[in-house]
Amino acid sequence: MLEQLIQKFQELYGDGGELRTYFAPGRVNLIGEHTDYNGGHVFPCALTLGTYAAVRNREDNKLRFYSMNFAKPGVIESDLNDLVPRPEASWTNYPKGVMWAFAQRGLSLTHGLDIAICGDIPNGSGLSSSASLEVLTGLILKDTFGFDELTMQDLALIGQYSENNFNGMNCGIMDQFASAMGKQGCAIFLDTNTLEYEYAPVCLEDAKIVITNSNVKHSLVTSAYNDRRRECETALKELQTMSDIRTLGDLTEDAFEAIKDAIKDPVCRKRAKHAVYENRRTIRAVAALKENNVEEFGQLMNASHRSLRDDFEVSCKEIDLLVDLAWQIPGVVGSRITGGGFGGCTVSIVKNDAIDTFRETLKSEYKKQTGLDAQFYVVDCGSGASRIR
Ligand code: GLA
Repeated sequence: MLEQLIQKFQELYGDGGELRTYFAPGRVNLIGEHTDYNGGHVFPCALTLGTYAAVRNREDNKLRFYSMNFAKPGVIESDLNDLVPRPEASWTNYPKGVMWAFAQRGLSLTHGLDIAICGDIPNGSGLSSSASLEVLTGLILKDTFGFDELTMQDLALIGQYSENNFNGMNCGIMDQFASAMGKQGCAIFLDTNTLEYEYAPVCLEDAKIVITNSNVKHSLVTSAYNDRRRECETALKELQTMSDIRTLGDLTEDAFEAIKDAIKDPVCRKRAKHAVYENRRTIRAVAALKENNVEEFGQLMNASHRSLRDDFEVSCKEIDLLVDLAWQIPGVVGSRITGGGFGGCTVSIVKNDAIDTFRETLKSEYKKQTGLDAQFYVVDCGSGASRIR
């Protein structure tokens, strides 16, 4: 992939100058969904799938972007003095947002760049292709302009800031954190309230992580996501009249049950219930994994799905079908929707000797019942973003 990218870069922008290359991964979240903007815990891992960039400095303030994944519009041009979101700027609103966020922090970019990217994360699949692009851009800027004081964690925060304030998606920190901070063989147990984290080895012995892409992309994902976030905030405010909590993540299940009637709207109550229970499930799931109790981990994944389906209502019929099919296959330890929801992917833990059956059954039944093709990825936990070569 890198060779093709470099070749394309030279074809578009010519030879000469110092060419630098970078990579930032996508992520899959094993458990802890819609908890990251509620002060709860998440448990994602970086993938080995991700986004690559080839970059060269310019002497003027021009920015030229090209994506091999969105080749149609060709090279998209912009300028360091014009960092504003525009619909016609398409995917370049992500890197431009990060550049804008650097400027907001007083980190001045003193010259333009030629950038070409390509990636192997399926777009719109909920595996964080946009967060990978944000972290990738952050790393390019840190490296190019010598912002040595910025840590990888800072790059995650800058990526989130730009997505919230430039791209209008009020996401939490999970995706950018996983892309920036991933560690091979491990998932990240992150407390989103304090940003304290711990790497937990993902030792599944005779099983693997399998991602299934439903190939369903619902429109209005951003607005539905932002609605969920608002509903959780409303619930929190009402609960705060009863209890001295900072976030929903501060509550145990029992503490929530004792004060939940303070939340007037039943929809907001369901949303808050999910956030509280999902956080506790995540803490329990990581403890189970540490004790090599993969079965319990899987049960908690299944419970997470039910809660996301019924209480948080971010699943859809295609995803529910994939999960229901998976639950019926012997050798499937756990299966659930992963990521923001409203389509996208499921994540499953599947015993090695059941992977073929899993793939064949889901593929054919899903096609039969929806007319859609599902795609499968047997994945490993990869490292965070880095410069390559
Ligand atoms: C999206 C957001 C994350 C997180 C997940 C749901 O991926 O970008 O911050 O909220 O949804 O867990």
